[in-house]
Amino acid sequence: MDWGMRNRLARMFRPPSGNSVMLAVDHGYFMGPTRRLEDVGATIRPLLPHADALALTRGVLRSSVPPEATTPIVLRVSGGATVLQEDLSNEAITTAIADASRLNVSAIALSVFVGAPHEHQSLVNLAKLVDDGESSGIPVLAITAVGKELEKRDARYLALACRVSAEIGAHVVKTYYCDDFARVVEGCPVPLVVAGGPKLDSERAALELAHGAIAEGARGIDMGRNIWQSERPVAMLKALRAIVHEKATVREAVTVLEEEGADARGPAHAASAA
Ligand code: R5P
Repeated sequence: MDWGMRNRLARMFRPPSGNSVMLAVDHGYFMGPTRRLEDVGATIRPLLPHADALALTRGVLRSSVPPEATTPIVLRVSGGATVLQEDLSNEAITTAIADASRLNVSAIALSVFVGAPHEHQSLVNLAKLVDDGESSGIPVLAITAVGKELEKRDARYLALACRVSAEIGAHVVKTYYCDDFARVVEGCPVPLVVAGGPKLDSERAALELAHGAIAEGARGIDMGRNIWQSERPVAMLKALRAIVHEKATVREAVTVLEEEGADARGPAHAASAA
């Protein structure tokens, strides 16, 4: 692996653990103005100092993130379907590698839809993106999307989707936590990070998810709704950092959450928080 690629990975996977806490705010690319992401800039402002990387699209990067920001960017470069469609898998690469380079990003990300109607297309998209990424020294993060079929989040399916993504050349794979997650980790030769999925019943449940994933071999999280749809997003992010970087137990992370717990949400969100 060339120096540029290694350097970009090292920006995102940070000491002291070598793991990564990625903040995902790319949901609008197919869901529109998701609750609490209506004003992305306002949502991420207090969170940015606590994230090892920020995952989003070029439109939101250019419109809502100050260029002075030093947080590494994971740029989503796939899209082309919205929640109005039954089949979400009909995606193409929506951003040229030249634009990703211009934006000085640390990684490029796309969804792969294994087992979906456009499986072939999404895997060929991944292969093309890996070729582009290798040429430019930009790592590729493959997202094993499950679309609307959340029941696909089991070890057998995810192990298949993650392994196929790694075989095609993804440098990092994002997937979901599941029972027997160690089996997914074991079959994937590149680092895995886990998404949070839809908001869980409690903050503790999201901390348990992250703790289970790290304990079973994930190298980080790439989480969105369970952070910024929380009433105390900064405290939640700090609690997750304790798990990902300091091997905190769930109990210790809950203590961080309670101690840091003052709501960091700004006045711009008062209406949606009510
Ligand atoms: C889908 O919109 C994206 O891949 C998200 O970045 C991913 O699902 C992580 O966000 P969340 O934790 O909200 O699922």
